[in-house]
Amino acid sequence: MSLGLKKKLTDEFIAKFGPDVDIRIFFAPGRVNLIGEHTDYNGGHVFPCALSLGTYAAVRVRTDSKIRLYSMNFENDGIIEADSEKELVNSPAYKWANYPLGIVQTFKKRGYAVPAGFDILFYGTIPNGSGLSSSASIEVLTGFCLKELFRLDVTKKDLALIGQDSENHFNGMNCGIMDQFASAFGKAGHAIFLDTATLDYEYVPVDLKGIKIVISNTNKKHELTSSGYNDRRRESETALKDLQSVTDIKALGELNEETFNKYSSAIKDEVCFRRARHAVTENLRTIEAVKALNAGDIVAFGKLMNASHKSLDKDYEVTCPELNIMAETEQKLPGVIGARMTGGGFGGCTVALVLEECIDALLEKTKEIYKAKTGIDPDFYIVDIGDGPSEINS
Ligand code: GLA
Repeated sequence: MSLGLKKKLTDEFIAKFGPDVDIRIFFAPGRVNLIGEHTDYNGGHVFPCALSLGTYAAVRVRTDSKIRLYSMNFENDGIIEADSEKELVNSPAYKWANYPLGIVQTFKKRGYAVPAGFDILFYGTIPNGSGLSSSASIEVLTGFCLKELFRLDVTKKDLALIGQDSENHFNGMNCGIMDQFASAFGKAGHAIFLDTATLDYEYVPVDLKGIKIVISNTNKKHELTSSGYNDRRRESETALKDLQSVTDIKALGELNEETFNKYSSAIKDEVCFRRARHAVTENLRTIEAVKALNAGDIVAFGKLMNASHKSLDKDYEVTCPELNIMAETEQKLPGVIGARMTGGGFGGCTVALVLEECIDALLEKTKEIYKAKTGIDPDFYIVDIGDGPSEINS
């Protein structure tokens, strides 16, 4: 963390909450998923990595039970107040603070003591609605703050599960485990090959010599709670139920191409059939992609990324014109190994692997074509893979 940023957070904290005693600063990352999209609630594999972008919190324990929250990203919302001794319930009055307050409530629900209130200031470096998990980073960050402030016995896995529980039950977004897991388990230079059926995982070095991860923001914001995300989950579940009438499986992720072809005629609805086909083929692509990366075959990895995008577009229908224009433009440009939408979809970002010497030309050309076709100015981030949550001491 730069000294400038630390000073900015501390100054702002003092301005909102009073003098500089015992302020601690914490960070938790956002994530980008390299491949394995919409597989995490279907018992499949995902392959995300934590970013060096994420959310910071400056925080101080109080002597009473008040919780006061302020976000530098939502200045107009001012300071939001709650009480750690009362049961917290999602409320429009809490605005963005439903995310951190949901974590406090979920800690209490799971029997952890939250013995005092606290003042907390957030500052996020992930653009909201970009699909890079700003909400998961706030959830994991808040959990990490509670763990450190109150010395709670909480593992990384607990942080991820509490984050997901809170998002599902406090905020009404039926997400899988990928985002919170990637934030809690992030490791610089590595992606996380996670089996969402068992939560077994493996760190895979992403040693892309001469290649960079380029994230392109369509600047078409996604709102997963109001989008088709929960519908996709339901459609996948319907397909699974139909399949369970002919074969003994717990999740779509247990099928391979052969078994899917054998049983898929049991899926009654054509739309649900395509949703299941995506879940199955995307899981297989993810396993294949990690094998390719481990074997140093980055070209094969890139082709699987492109195929993933196509399946998310045609079978899962979670892309949108902006995402298709962005990914398909990038796929055709020189030096691009592969490009696909990343995250929940319906807007947000693409992720591409690009030869370093081609990046400048790629950004210029993509911007020109994307702007001409959509009228929107895109943003680009050339990112590094970062670590999980930490306290900032220096
Ligand atoms: C969102 C959800 C994740 C995952 C992705 C799609 O980011 O929060 O759990 O389902 O969409 O892969």
